[in-house]
Parts: sequence; structure tokens; C-alpha cells
Amino acid sequence: MKFDTPATTNPIDRLTVIGKPTSRIDGPLKTTGTAPYAYERHDVVADQAYGYPVGAGIGKGRIASLSVEEAEAAPGVLAVVTHRTAGKLGKAERNAAPLLGGPEIDHYHQAVALVVAESFEQARAAAQRIRIEYESGGGAFDLAHAREAMGDSAEHKTEDSTVGDFAGAFAAAAVKLDETYTTPDQSHAMMEPHATIAAWKGDRLTVWTSNQMIDWAATDLAETLEMPKEKVRVISPFIGGGFGGKLFLRADILLAALGARAAGRPVKVALPRPMIANNTTHRPATIQRIRIGAGRDGKILAIAHESWSGNLEDGKPETATDQTRLLYAGANRLTGTRLAHLDLPEGNAMRAPGEASGLMALEIAMDEMAERLKIDPVEFRILNDTQVDPEKPERPFSQRQLVQCLRTGAERFGWSKRSGEPGRVRDGRWLIGMGMAAAFRNNLLTKSAARVRLDRRGVVTVETDMTDIGTGSYTIIAQTAAEMMGVGLDKVLVRLGDSSFPVSAGSGGQWGANNSTAGVYAACVTLREAVARTLGVNSADAEFADGLVRSGNRSVPLAQAAGESGLSAEDAIEYGDLAKKAQQSTFGAHFVEVGVDAATAEVRVRRMLAVCAAGRILNPLSARSQVIGAMTMGVGAALMEELAVDPRTGFFVNHDLAGYEVPVHADIPQQEVVFLDETDPMSSPMKAKGVGELGLCGVGAAIANAVHNATGIRVRDYPVTLDKLI
Ligand code: MOS
Repeated sequence: MKFDTPATTNPIDRLTVIGKPTSRIDGPLKTTGTAPYAYERHDVVADQAYGYPVGAGIGKGRIASLSVEEAEAAPGVLAVVTHRTAGKLGKAERNAAPLLGGPEIDHYHQAVALVVAESFEQARAAAQRIRIEYESGGGAFDLAHAREAMGDSAEHKTEDSTVGDFAGAFAAAAVKLDETYTTPDQSHAMMEPHATIAAWKGDRLTVWTSNQMIDWAATDLAETLEMPKEKVRVISPFIGGGFGGKLFLRADILLAALGARAAGRPVKVALPRPMIANNTTHRPATIQRIRIGAGRDGKILAIAHESWSGNLEDGKPETATDQTRLLYAGANRLTGTRLAHLDLPEGNAMRAPGEASGLMALEIAMDEMAERLKIDPVEFRILNDTQVDPEKPERPFSQRQLVQCLRTGAERFGWSKRSGEPGRVRDGRWLIGMGMAAAFRNNLLTKSAARVRLDRRGVVTVETDMTDIGTGSYTIIAQTAAEMMGVGLDKVLVRLGDSSFPVSAGSGGQWGANNSTAGVYAACVTLREAVARTLGVNSADAEFADGLVRSGNRSVPLAQAAGESGLSAEDAIEYGDLAKKAQQSTFGAHFVEVGVDAATAEVRVRRMLAVCAAGRILNPLSARSQVIGAMTMGVGAALMEELAVDPRTGFFVNHDLAGYEVPVHADIPQQEVVFLDETDPMSSPMKAKGVGELGLCGVGAAIANAVHNATGIRVRDYPVTLDKLI
């Protein structure tokens, strides 16, 4: 189904199932511990052996000598895989460095070996007996240093986006800001580690894994193993968190496949927790310079945002300036990213890549400007709202309720009680402050397919390679099929995460909910036509409700219409150029109250509120959970999360959940989420957009701004730890 004109009224608009708060249909599987996660698939294939990976002990250089004999002779060992025995491997474009290193080493903990043994303990013990000597080859690991070395040289720049005359307008502006903000390297720290069971049958390979993007994984696995994609099957029905860390083929999948080939047995591999931070991808650190010039009336005249980040040779910059192109008005603009070569592990997408880091900087800068202008921070943002793309004024936003988010949030949060002057409010030993920030994240459209089947019991089965990374995909897909076919949720079966199913949008970039349900919508439209044909009625006149198909004065049970052999349909949603005609984005506002201990500078978040405008909310219950989770992640980003780089070795030192701090329940206070009424007819027939990443965007800055309001101290270097407040 081609979607290239704005959506009109359709069966989804009935909202009998869609839009209703609905508990996860997969909830019982999870709460009873029976949801089949990759590493625990004892049921799928017999005779599984265990693989234990070895990561490189240097950040850059080469293997000088490698000896595996002792490991091979260790008890229970079935095989040892290294670059010498792995055979020729390709490298997928989506991987910045080979997933199996050697002799060249591209980054710390790049996999260099896998030991396969009868038991996990035997594999782990034998892995200690692999002897490797390295020649360390220098390497660049320090972003601040790399930025200095780069100077203003053009070779590191992506093309700047410029409008008007930034330099002239900034120089002439009455009120100015020119500040630099830094965000650290961050790790996804999902609960379930990357894990895979691989089994070969002749030249066909099946992997049971934990991956957000099934088709990317299948494509890249085939490319890496230099085998036809049709011979690869990727199965990933349950994922214990991803946050972008499982968007790509990673070492567990490749190593399990190679180990299984070498051992002649199915092999399971989980990346050990202490290896994940360095072996996989992370959100790269940024240095962001922001300049804003405004008139005394508070109108922005000039805005510039430049972001420096580092990556491996084939890696990309963190797109931390994207939101600055679209969020506020201003006639003279300059935005761009600069990329330093660093030999740290690959930097790549982590929840709301680009905007999450970018807003941590931009929304402190906006707070600082408001302070200089003596305008309330909420009013300053409202004053600079735009209803059109500020770079291309002929292009409107499909929907933009930023102002409504800000006003609703201010009202609900009691913003009027905030002291404009910092350091004035106390509650016993606590200095109290309020802060806020705007939230922004784009809405991306991408093709998504599904297959639906109606059987003689009237059960609708949906199959698509869409994944559920804890987000609630199973439930919103079931709601979509139920709404479209006019049946209850108990009559819908959803099967996800298998490369033998039609290719969906997958889970990434908060595009999963809208696109994957729109693909199911398309397949259901085709199935409704098939049902109507069978009954000899016009599908436009047929009404699907209450398990019946009604047309004129006929009313036939859906089960009966399916016939003995059932009916099935497959279709995809495909997008025309609607996204070019109007900018599709999601908006929100975050409000936070913090307490800062006057003696120790300990920061405690006391209250949080998010107001979101993100198209139709398909399931208010799971959408709220997404935003609550994202706000929690924002607390981590603001106050705790930081991969500590050893600049001598390029090693993330705090590479486990003891050293890499994320918020726990005791850190999370009262959180409220409000969704504004919105439907976006430009986004899809579902009229929905993404919300899972929006909830994170801006949270960090709202907390930093609240800390400033409490203490008068402006911290521009995340995380806002107490040493920066004393
Ligand atoms: Mo998201 S960082 O695209 O999983």
C-alpha cells in the first residue's frame, strides 16, 4: 500500500481497541519467566556447546604472537576460533570495525578468539589459557585532544547547514551567548547481554539471538560470512533491552556461527558483561559549542551549534546538531558536526542518537540565554517558536504543539512557584530548584511489511519480522489487527522477530510503533478485501466488527467467511514524499524539581513531568511506560552515566554495572506523563508517531537547569556530579 496522501478516516479511527490502555499481551510470559530469550533456548536445538569470547587487550595495534595449543588441550574444549582459523570474512558496512579482529586490532576488547567447550565453565577456563602478545600501535583516544589537533580544518567537517549571515547577525546582537558543553561516552547498559545460539544444517545457518533489526542482521551476517542471505535465518522474538546497542550484527552472532561451524555442533555465546561496553557500540562523547544572539525583545537573531565527536575510521559523527536546525526560529543559522578519528570502540546509535546529546547542550544554552535576557525560560522558548522549518520556510511541520506542551507543563507542574533567582528556595538542608527543557525528536518513515492470516476459528495471526525490545510491539500490533478485523485481542496471535516473516521497519529511531503497525494495517486492508471477495460483497461497504462481517443486511461470522482453509494476505506500507512536503517531528516539554544538599552537594531528583505531543497514542499504557523509562534514562544521563576512558589505552574502565552507574528505583521519584491529543494524518494511516526516544530528549538539560536554579552553579560538563558543585 502506497501512503502518499494524508490519511482520511479509516477503521483505526473507531478506537475500540487502539488508543485504549492495554496491558502487554506478552506480560504473563515475562512475569512467569517463560518468554524465550535467546540464551535460554534449550528447546530449539539439541546438543548445544558453549562459546566464551576473548577480547583484545590493547586499543590499537596488532597481535604479535598467538598461541592456542594450551586452550585446545584444556578439558572439554571442542574448538578454538581465531582470525587464523575463521576463514575469509567480509565486513558489513554497518560495522565500523571487523567483529573478529586479528592480526590488526581496531579497538579494545575487539573479539580475537572464541573457545567452544562442553560446558560454560570449561570454555571460560580454557579462554584464560590463550596466550597473546601484542604490539601496541599508538592510537588516539582523547576527544578534547583530537579536537585541538583538528583546529578548523575542513576535512573533519560534514557539510555545514547555513542560512543567512550568522557571523554578522551574531556580532550585532544585543544579547549573546558563546558557551561549550560536553557530554561523555555512554553505554546502553541493557539488562540482557548480547547473546546467540547458532546452528548449521549443511550450508544453512540459523541463529536465535537478541537483535532489534532482523533484516539488517540477516543481511550483514550473510555478507560477513560471504554466504547467500537465503541460507541465513535470524530469530529474535524477545529482547531484554536494546537502546540501539542491538541495532547491528555484533560479535556474539558471528562468533556463535563460526564456533558452531568449527565444533560441528550448535554453539551458544553471550558476551560477558565486562566485555559489552568495549566490544560493542556506545554513544560517543561530544564537545558542543553553541552561540546564540538575540535582541532585547528575546527574539533569536542568530544561532550556531557545532558538535565534535570521535569515531573509528569507518564510523560516523554523532549528529548532535540535528534538532537545532528545526527547534527554534531565527533568520541566521549555522549547524554542523566535526568528526575526529579516535581508536575507541565504535560510537553509534544509543536511544535518540543525535538529539539526546544535542538537547543536553542546546537546552542549557536556552536556559542561559533566558537568564541573560531576564525572560522566563518557558516564555523564551514560546517567543522563539516556529511553525515552519526555519531552514526552509516553505515547509511547515505536519503537527507542532511545542507551545501547548510548554504551557500545559508549566501549568501542571506549578512553574509559577519557581523563584527566578537561583539559590533562594530551601527545604531543611536541601536547596530546591526547578528546571525545564523542550523535547524534540524526529519521526522517521520507513517501509514495513506484514502477513495476516484468518483461520476457520476466526483467529487472526500476524507475522512480521518486527521486534519487541521491551517496548510493547506485540501489544500495539495485536491492537491494530483487532481494530482492523473487528475482533477482540483474544482472537489475535502475533508472531515477531523471525527473518522468515515479511520485513518490517524493525525497532530503532522510535520509528517502530508507527511504521510496523502501519504495515499491519496495510496487510489487514488486503485481508479485508479477500474476505469481502469471498462473501461476494464490496469491501468498501463491509463493516468488520464484533467478530462479524456486515454488509447491507447480511451479517456473517468472520470465522465462517474464512472457510475451511482460511484466508491470508501480505502487504507493506510504503511511503511517498509526504515527509518532504512537511517536516514530521515529535515535541514535548520536561519539567523537573531537584534538591541539592547544601553541605554535600548530593543531587536528588524530587519530581518530574513530561508533556508529549507525538501523534496518536496507540496504547497509552505502554507509551507511558516508554516515556517513564526514557525519563529515567535522562536522570542517568544528567547525574551518573559516564564511561571513563583510560586515555593511555583507549579502554572504558568502568565496563560493568558496578562501575557504570544507572538510576535505580531509589533514585526515581514521582514521574508524570501527559500526552496531548494529537493525530498526524501525514505520518501513516495509524496517524501515530514515535514516543520512546522523545521521552529522553531534553531531560538531562532540564535537570542541569534545575540544579542551577537550586544553587546558582552552571555545570556545562555532564554528568552533573557533586564534585562539580563544590
Ligand atoms: Mo535506537 S538508538 O535507533 O535503538
